[in-house]
Amino acid sequence: MLDKKISEANSGFNSDILKVNDLKQLEDIRVKYLSRNGLISKLFDELKDASKEEKPLLGKSLNILRNDVTEKFNLLKEKLENSAGESEKKPDLSLPGIRKVIGSKHLLTQTLDEVKSIFKGLGFSIMEGPELESDYNNFGALNFPVDHPARDMQDTFFITEDFLLRTHTSPVQIRLMNKYKPPVRAIMPGRVYRNEAISSRSYCVFHQVEGLYVDRDVTFAELKGTLVSFARQFYGNDLKYRFRPSFFPFTEPSAEMDITCYLCYGKGCRICKHTGWLEILGCGTVDPNVFDNVDYNHEEYTGYAFGMGIERTALLKYGIDDIRVFFENDFRFLKQF
Ligand code: PHE
Repeated sequence: MLDKKISEANSGFNSDILKVNDLKQLEDIRVKYLSRNGLISKLFDELKDASKEEKPLLGKSLNILRNDVTEKFNLLKEKLENSAGESEKKPDLSLPGIRKVIGSKHLLTQTLDEVKSIFKGLGFSIMEGPELESDYNNFGALNFPVDHPARDMQDTFFITEDFLLRTHTSPVQIRLMNKYKPPVRAIMPGRVYRNEAISSRSYCVFHQVEGLYVDRDVTFAELKGTLVSFARQFYGNDLKYRFRPSFFPFTEPSAEMDITCYLCYGKGCRICKHTGWLEILGCGTVDPNVFDNVDYNHEEYTGYAFGMGIERTALLKYGIDDIRVFFENDFRFLKQF
């Protein structure tokens, strides 16, 4: 009789303890099984009535039951007390706060923002085009002959025979003119790609800002005036500049604009290759062939275009001598601006 009650108590306890979630429920279990009036004490009381032969064996089972229940009870109690302690840990509101580190705009973004705002002030709107371009927009429509060396696999990342990563922002001129009738006046910033050996002076990806103005009677003199106004606002009023004749398939005549070297102020040094001058952009009046390709009447309209590298511009303005720092995202560099 008693041995059956012992095993029932054992399985009852084992199933009760599984349902315990907190210290209060655990206390109910203690009262039920282990207290002075609990089940196990009662079973010990019943031991008196057992026969002489059965007594030692039943006593032993009862002791095992009590030890087992006590041990499981203590283990669970410890576990519940520990986790209760954790959830009760409140934040210490008197501790000093952790200051958030506030980021800043990348130097290229800052430079681009400044260039954009100067040209906005000169009446230019802003347009963007895709980095994946057709061979036609990047070269053909811009009057590059089929066998022009710039199309060479060495400079251009071709994706297919007809598509490539644009090598300059000039294809956005084509997109702009295909979309809008003249007059148009916009700058077109963006990322461009060239398959060049990486060095302190060149990188496989960089940024350009393209400019285009088309209307009746737009002249080369206006181009110069606009670019000089830009350069003075960007580099400073005392800047010296010059325009050198150059060649681009999509402008005629073409020029490159130089400013005095920021390092030697014109005396000649390593950075300016001892010329005292640094090239900042390419420009020219739009070639009539380009107008023909976008169905603009080249008898009626003239225009000018220019393109400048943003990395180069930032290098010159901030006196940095390695283009790669723009792409490494080293905090020690970025933090300075
Ligand atoms: N696209 C030319 C380059 O990448 C720059 C340029 C733009 C020249 C517009 C003239 C007119 O070198």
